Amino acid sequence: MKKKEIEKFFPIPSQTSLVDKAVILKINKLMNLRTKNFIYIEIGSYLGGSLTPFLINENCKRVISVDKRNQIIDDERNEKWSYKKISEKLMIKGLKEKKLDISKLKSFNGDISEYRPKENYDLAFIDGIHTDKNTFSDFLYILDKINKHCIILFHDSVVIFKALLLIKEFLKKKNYTFKIAKFKESGITGFFFGSFSKIDINKKINSTQNFEKFCVDAEENLLIQQLNNRIKVKFKISRFLKNKFPYKFIIKEKEKKESKKD
Ligand SMILES: C[S@@+](CC[C@H](N)C(=O)[O-])C[C@H]1O[C@@H](n2cnc3c(N)ncnc32)[C@H](O)[C@@H]1O
Repeated sequence: MKKKEIEKFFPIPSQTSLVDKAVILKINKLMNLRTKNFIYIEIGSYLGGSLTPFLINENCKRVISVDKRNQIIDDERNEKWSYKKISEKLMIKGLKEKKLDISKLKSFNGDISEYRPKENYDLAFIDGIHTDKNTFSDFLYILDKINKHCIILFHDSVVIFKALLLIKEFLKKKNYTFKIAKFKESGITGFFFGSFSKIDINKKINSTQNFEKFCVDAEENLLIQQLNNRIKVKFKISRFLKNKFPYKFIIKEKEKKESKKD
């Protein structure tokens, strides 16, 4: 897929990469082939950058944005991310400036656990708080309201891979018909349910990578990030001179980071 074509569907800054965007577009197209008038729900919208392809798609009848605004959020890397200045009003303003039709957009300022929807979802994108606990909780509330043939996507798999492993085990135990796909060079992992689990994902969407192997690498990568973020090493000369182990490990405060656009 060409960069220009991708950018046409993503006119608003988003925290997704180019490959993520290509995956989202392919799934948007796939929905058109299989589901009439589908409903898209997104947890974590920021400026609205990841929901624009669905606003543009006429076959998508409802776009639901769930975002608990004005928060500083934690993640599994032991980082804190500030979304304090990003309001729902700012997102709507940006979408209007790009002349996007927002008549089918429904936005909810809060956590999915407080949301009482009337309709079921066909496609979900979970990109809210990147802790395993929140990801699993977001997933459970989405699962309550999904249609039999549907797709649930997760962003930043490298951070929340443990939640993904638990979700996979949970679905297996509950006898769901599903397939998991971690897309290559993308942060997105998808769970494909019902008839969507039968499609050739590599051919129809994007190349995938071995999920279990990905999780092993992600675990090592996460450990290094957690150590770098939280552990300070002090060299104690007094201990060194006494021929004792000279290093002291100290836990640092979590560093606050400002949310970045693409
Ligand atoms: C990683 S950003 C979303 C990025 C967006 N999907 C994009 O591609 O640009 C995370 C978002 O989660 C939101 N958030 C914070 N707490 C939340 C919660 N409990 N439920 C849903 N979203 C939450 C933040 O306000 C922020 O907009």
